[in-house]
Amino acid sequence: MVFPNRPQGDPVGQDAADDVLPLPGPEGASITVCPDGPLLVRGDVEIVGTDGEPVERRRQTVALCRCGRTSIAPYCDGSHKVRGPRRR
Ligand code: FES
Repeated sequence: MVFPNRPQGDPVGQDAADDVLPLPGPEGASITVCPDGPLLVRGDVEIVGTDGEPVERRRQTVALCRCGRTSIAPYCDGSHKVRGPRRR
């Protein structure tokens, strides 16, 4: 998960205000949702794993898996492409 400037271990979504108030974040940081694909994270933000520890990051732009099929979690390895387009 990506939570710019959120202290490690700080609960997310516990307060409704967390969902509507913008968090102060690094200038230029962004998250782009790819249709039927990953989340592209650009900028200087910390990525924290499910264990609460920072995830190693080697690039300024990374793709985070949101389909659950990757073998390199939390990053996308392209496995979402075998699933085909999402149906509504
Ligand atoms: S979104 Fe690409 S492998 Fe999951």
